[in-house]
Amino acid sequence: MLNKLYVALIHYPCLGKNNQIISTAVTNIDIHDIARTCRTYNIKKYFMVTNLPAQQEIIRRVLKFWIDGSGRRFNENRTEALYEVDLKAYYEDVIEAITQKEGEKPLTVFTSAKTRPNTITFDEMRQEILSQKKPILLIFGTGHGLPNEILSTCDYSLEPVRASGDFNHLSVRSAIAIILDRLIGETIS
Ligand SMILES: C[S@@+](CC[C@H](N)C(=O)[O-])C[C@H]1O[C@@H](n2cnc3c(N)ncnc32)[C@H](O)[C@@H]1O
Repeated sequence: MLNKLYVALIHYPCLGKNNQIISTAVTNIDIHDIARTCRTYNIKKYFMVTNLPAQQEIIRRVLKFWIDGSGRRFNENRTEALYEVDLKAYYEDVIEAITQKEGEKPLTVFTSAKTRPNTITFDEMRQEILSQKKPILLIFGTGHGLPNEILSTCDYSLEPVRASGDFNHLSVRSAIAIILDRLIGETIS
C-alpha cells in the first residue's frame, strides 16, 4: 500500500571496513536530505536508528531546532520534512513501532549495492507495494552496509541500483532517492 511505506536508516548494527559490526556516526546531511526525499515521496515515517546516546542527542537537537525552535521560522518546508523523522535505538524498535501503528508487522526490504541470490526486482517490488495490504519497511545502511544478521530477518532483498559501469558506490542519500523513485515515482501506473 502506497500509504503504508516506511524507511529506516540503520547506524547499528552496520559493517565496518573489515566486516566487523560497528555503530556508525549520524550525519546532519542524512537527517535533512533523506527527510526531504521521504516527505517528497510521502513516506509515512523516516526512522533513524542509533544505539549511541550521544548520537541520539544529535538527532534530538536537530529535530528540536527545526520543529520547536527558530528553524521553523527560518524554513517551514524543512520543518515539514523533519516532522516525519523518528529516532529509535534499535532496529527491533522500528518493527515494534510500525506494528503498533498499523496493527500488523511490516514486510521488510533489505538494500545493498551487492548482488545477492534471491533478490526481488524493482518491477516485482513495485507490484508488491501496489497490491500489498501490509505495511512495508525499506531498510538502508551506513558505513560499509548492512550485516547478514539484518538480511536474515528480511522478507525481501531488493536488487541493487546499477549503472552500466563497474563503479557502484552510491551515497545512501542518492540510493534512497533513486530507489524510491523506481518503486513509487510518478511513472508508476
Ligand atoms: C554507503 S552504502 C554502503 C555501501 C555498501 N557497499 C553496501 O551497499 O552495502 C550505504 C547504504 O546505501 C544503500 N546503497 C548504496 N548503494 C546502493 C546500490 N547500488 N543499490 C542499492 N542500495 C544501495 C544500501 O542501503 C547501503 O547499505
